[in-house]
Amino acid sequence: MYYPDDVVEEVRSRNDIVDIVSGYVKLQKKGSSYFGLCPFHHEKSPSFSVSPGKQMYYCFGCGAGGNVITFLMQYENYTFPEALKVLADRAGIELPKQEMSKEARAQADLKMTLLEINKLAANYFHYQLKQPHGRTGYEYLTKRGLSDDTIRHFGLGYSNKTSDDLYRYLKGKGYGDGILKESGLFTISERGTWDKFWNRVMFPIMDTNNRVIGFGGRVMGDGEPKYLNSPETKLFDKSRNLYGLNFAKSSREKYFLICEGYMDVIAMHQAGFTNAVASLGTAFTTQHAALLKRYTSQVILTYDSDDAGVKAAMRAIPILKEVGISCRVLNMKPHKDPDEFIKNLGADAFRQRIAEAKNSFLFEIDVLKRGYDLEDPEQKTNFYTAVAKKLLEFSDALERDNYIQAVSREQFINYQDLKQLVNRTAARLGPAWAESRQAAGYGSYGGAARQNPAPGDAGSGAPNGPPYAWRDGAASDGGVRRPGQRKREKEDGAKQSQRLLLTWLIEDPRLYDKIRGIVTPDDFKEELYHKVAQMVFDGLEAGNLSPAEILNHFINDEEQYKEAAALFNASLKDSLGSEEQKKAFSETVIKVRKNSLDEASRTAADIGQLQEIIRARSALKTLHISLD
Ligand code: UTP
Ligand code: MN
Repeated sequence: MYYPDDVVEEVRSRNDIVDIVSGYVKLQKKGSSYFGLCPFHHEKSPSFSVSPGKQMYYCFGCGAGGNVITFLMQYENYTFPEALKVLADRAGIELPKQEMSKEARAQADLKMTLLEINKLAANYFHYQLKQPHGRTGYEYLTKRGLSDDTIRHFGLGYSNKTSDDLYRYLKGKGYGDGILKESGLFTISERGTWDKFWNRVMFPIMDTNNRVIGFGGRVMGDGEPKYLNSPETKLFDKSRNLYGLNFAKSSREKYFLICEGYMDVIAMHQAGFTNAVASLGTAFTTQHAALLKRYTSQVILTYDSDDAGVKAAMRAIPILKEVGISCRVLNMKPHKDPDEFIKNLGADAFRQRIAEAKNSFLFEIDVLKRGYDLEDPEQKTNFYTAVAKKLLEFSDALERDNYIQAVSREQFINYQDLKQLVNRTAARLGPAWAESRQAAGYGSYGGAARQNPAPGDAGSGAPNGPPYAWRDGAASDGGVRRPGQRKREKEDGAKQSQRLLLTWLIEDPRLYDKIRGIVTPDDFKEELYHKVAQMVFDGLEAGNLSPAEILNHFINDEEQYKEAAALFNASLKDSLGSEEQKKAFSETVIKVRKNSLDEASRTAADIGQLQEIIRARSALKTLHISLD
């Protein structure tokens, strides 16, 4: 879908962001901005800001941000053309028709039509439930303890035993075979067309905007498969949707509950735990984690208590950690799943279990322990060594020590002994690990490297341990340090200075004069920053910098516009008042230039270029930027 830049910009600039956002969020003016409760994550105090000057919104809590177009895309789940159309209509602008390619038009229409079909199907299934032939389904649900309210809330239904009634119903509404096939609701072959779901209790799956995007169906009786899900369609991507999220996103709890199944989600919601979600009959994926991260940074896993559930938890924990969600694991025993637990022991007991849920690291240690026979001294030693090795996942000394304490308490291992074992293990793994990193091209340990790692002394504490484990200060994020992380940190450093410099320039356009001729957009090596820098520099040069306009260029990539929006909104506690901050600005400029020259020297084609770079480098040494 292509609209010329000036059309997009006209639509954007004719819709005031404060006007639009106030239609959805209660805003209050504070200084030059407006603040309200963020509609994209839960919060109790407002960190969602709208800037009339920049014509942008930004949430300091969850990082959601953008211009008036992306706001509608995010809030209403509109596609870019949908959002543009709404805003154009509102401003009385006629969008050029011919700009929408036939295929794009068809795609947008297809999605709309599939949503209509799903909605009709969901209503149809729901209606069946209360019909005489739907009794089986209705009784099944009520026997499982669901109230009428719950059934309505989740829009549950029943697909009856007739093999093609839904098909005929939708044909009657005028839909053709082609589109019906795309809905994933039917099996179409030369021999005829059948409803894919029959004799099943139906669970409509909704996106975060309550639009039905697919279905799950549980068979009545013992048929196979027990649960049947819609196949992937233009609307439905299992690995990007969580069942129950449409409700859970407005729960008041800080944390989310993750469980395995439809019935578990529903049972928990009915018992008041409206923050429960489930991945849809698939393993929990990185995309699920990223989706959750928009709403919370804490989850409690409430998977089944069987082996499969434990395995699922073990897989989910690192995925959650990776995106920065901390997690705990609920003990479901003696019951199998949340549904059964709540039915037998009630909501209060469940709430108690939530409070007692185990730190995920300690849970992992428990699971690790199952692989060893602790009656056998050798295996016991091996278990302790494995524990020590796992404790090395924590690169931060304080954090690691907290865990050494907790593990020694839980597993009845003497604290000093465990600590020494951890240090010895680190010393043993250190050099080999270091070599493997160097071989892989991660470079040296820089200032933190020690000439003589003294394994013998390692037990005495931090100073003599292997470098990687004891590098506590600087870049430690307290998380798991993996090979490659150091390289990433270096990149992050370069990226960070580029980001900072851009943010400064946007915040205070007068700074442009100070760096003009010293830094150019080409010094911004991050692809996204380079694009933004080009536009920012052009805008500053022409004296008409418009952050919201720049964002138009990134609208087709959610990750990109969010990152770009963050650039325009980062809260610089440090406006350039103090001496220290002036120095920081100077240093940032130098870092950006230096990184750029480093890159150039790696790709220099001939001696002449290299000499040029060397000259530029030494000029950098004497560079002084005065802000006075
Ligand atoms: P379970 O087998 O634990 O089902 O699968 P359950 O939720 O306890 O089901 P009831 O209580 O017998 O009705 C957990 C989840 O895994 C998915 C479903 O999402 C189910 O809720 N699943 C399970 C499938 O997708 N297909 C299957 O065949 C089985
Ligand atoms: Mn169950």
